[in-house]
Amino acid sequence: MSLTETTVLAALAPRPARFYPQIGSTNDAAMEWLSQGAKHGSVVIVDEQVKGRGRLGRTWHTPPATALILSVILRPDAAHLPQLTMLGALAICDMLDHLDMEHVSIKWPNDVLVNGKKVSGVLPEVLWEGKRLTGVVLGMGINVRIDFSGTDLAHHAISIESALGRPVQRLDLLKDLLERIDFWFSHLGTDELFENWKRRLTTLGQSVQVENEGRIVTGVAYSVDSAGALLVMDSTSKLHRILAGDIGLGSTG
Ligand code: BTN
Repeated sequence: MSLTETTVLAALAPRPARFYPQIGSTNDAAMEWLSQGAKHGSVVIVDEQVKGRGRLGRTWHTPPATALILSVILRPDAAHLPQLTMLGALAICDMLDHLDMEHVSIKWPNDVLVNGKKVSGVLPEVLWEGKRLTGVVLGMGINVRIDFSGTDLAHHAISIESALGRPVQRLDLLKDLLERIDFWFSHLGTDELFENWKRRLTTLGQSVQVENEGRIVTGVAYSVDSAGALLVMDSTSKLHRILAGDIGLGSTG
C-alpha cells in the first residue's frame, strides 16, 4: 500500500501525525511543529525527502516510495538526553528482529547495520528554550527498497527488502517502529536500555580510527559509557573518550 495522508493518519490515529508526499527535511518540519507546541509522540512522515540531513553535516537523499522517513517528537527529561540516540537505533533493531532479519547490529553511535551494511541512520536534534529543554526530534531514515546496486554505496548500504528477499509494507514497519519507540521511551534512564544498545554494538573490540576534537584517534574500541561515549584505547594504553564522531576501521599499529 502506498503512503498517503489518508492511509498514514488512519493507521496511526489517535497519534498526532503529519504526512507530506515530499518535503525538504522531516527534522525541520518536526522542529517547527515542536516549537509550536506539538505533543509528545507526534510524528512527521514523508514519502520523498529532498533535503534530508545526516550526521556530521552530511546529506541524506531519499527517492520517492523507497524508504521510511520520519521524525518523532519526544519530550524527555533533560537528564535522559544521552539515551535518546541509543533509543532510536534500538527501536529500529527491534523492528528488524520482528521481521526475522538476521545479522542486525549497531555501528557506534547509532547506524543500524544488516550484514555489516547501513540500513538506517538516526539524527536526534534538540530544541531548548533558554536552559529549559523543549523537546527532541528523533529523525530516522530506513532504506526499504532503495536499489544500491551499481552505485558508490553498494558496499556500504543495504535495503530491508533486498536483505530479506521479500517485500514489506512501509505502513506496517511504521506502526511497529513507533510502538518500539514508545516502549524504549518508557525505559529511558534504565540499565536495560543501555545494556541492550551496548549488546548490539558491533564496534566494540575492533580496531578503529575516529576523529576527536579535530584529531584522529587510532586504537581499539574498548567500551562505551552510560552517556553513550566511545572509549578508545590507543597503543600507549591511553583511553580517549569520544562523544561524537565518525568511525572507520583501521589498524592499531
Ligand atoms: C545519518 O547520518 O546516519 C543520519 C541520517 C538521518 C536521516 C533522517 S531521514 C529523517 C530525518 N530527517 C532528516 O533530515 N534527517 C533524518
